Amino acid sequence: MSTALITGASSGIGAAFAAALAARKHDLVLVARDEQRLAAVAQAATEQHGVAADVLPADLIDPIARGRVEERLRASEKPIDLLVNNAGFALGKRFARTTVDEQEQLLDILVRAVLRLTHAALPGMIERGHGAIVNVSSIAGEVPYGTYGAAKAWVTSFSEGLAAELRGTGVRAMALLPGFTRTEFQSRAGVRRSAIPSFLWLDPARVAEGALRDLDRGRVVSVPTTRYRVLTAAARLTPRAVLRASARRF
Ligand SMILES: NC(=O)c1ccc[n+]([C@@H]2O[C@H](COP(=O)([O-])OP(=O)(O)OC[C@H]3O[C@@H](n4cnc5c(N)ncnc54)[C@H](OP(=O)(O)O)[C@@H]3O)[C@@H](O)[C@H]2O)c1
Repeated sequence: MSTALITGASSGIGAAFAAALAARKHDLVLVARDEQRLAAVAQAATEQHGVAADVLPADLIDPIARGRVEERLRASEKPIDLLVNNAGFALGKRFARTTVDEQEQLLDILVRAVLRLTHAALPGMIERGHGAIVNVSSIAGEVPYGTYGAAKAWVTSFSEGLAAELRGTGVRAMALLPGFTRTEFQSRAGVRRSAIPSFLWLDPARVAEGALRDLDRGRVVSVPTTRYRVLTAAARLTPRAVLRASARRF
């Protein structure tokens, strides 16, 4: 039985990945700060699907706690076959209205944790000749959208580069670019949901299940739903000046 490690597994898209992977009979290692919520996700996976689910509480902004997760990813006993780098948040404020520490913490979770956890997981996967990394990016990476958008652009580009480097190793990398998804993300960032049209909302379970199907198909970039694939393609064809002009409204 293979084992998946999911960051940000206590809610939203990460908890949905936990449920979808448990249904596919993967054992789980669940990472986030809230131990009680992780335990509830783990219990549901075990009761409903009979898989083993461990919780590894860690604040991925804290180098020592993050180091414990890196250690688990390097372990050869019960090795991790699938890493889902999903934990993240947005600040919901303009750059100049945040502190520089908040900005650095955002980069720590969205970029540094993804880079370090991937770096810890890959050598063992390459040696074993199989494995996969799924990095949860965002369609926000396709448009000028502050530090959050810039960090997600890094996640997408990093994953695409990694996928190319890994060709022939048996290990795959995929970026998942969800659009607006009904999770705690907006409330944590203090963003009103009512400002976003209802047809743009996605369901976290469908996002996670679609991502795993795209991973099976060998996709390198997974954009859930046709409407967001059209929007993403349109953003890529739109001159940057036009995107910059409309970015003020995000
Ligand atoms: N929802 C959307 O509209 C949307 C769209 C595109 C991309 N995304 C991306 O999807 C990913 C998951 O977000 P979500 O929508 O599922 O939001 P969510 O429901 O708020 O979940 C975020 C997860 O990240 C964990 N987390 C936050 N800070 C952490 C830290 N310092 N250390 C460890 N874990 C931390 C949270 O757990 P704890 O609080 O327990 O630590 C939680 O499990 C993020 O990378 C986000 O950028 C979301």
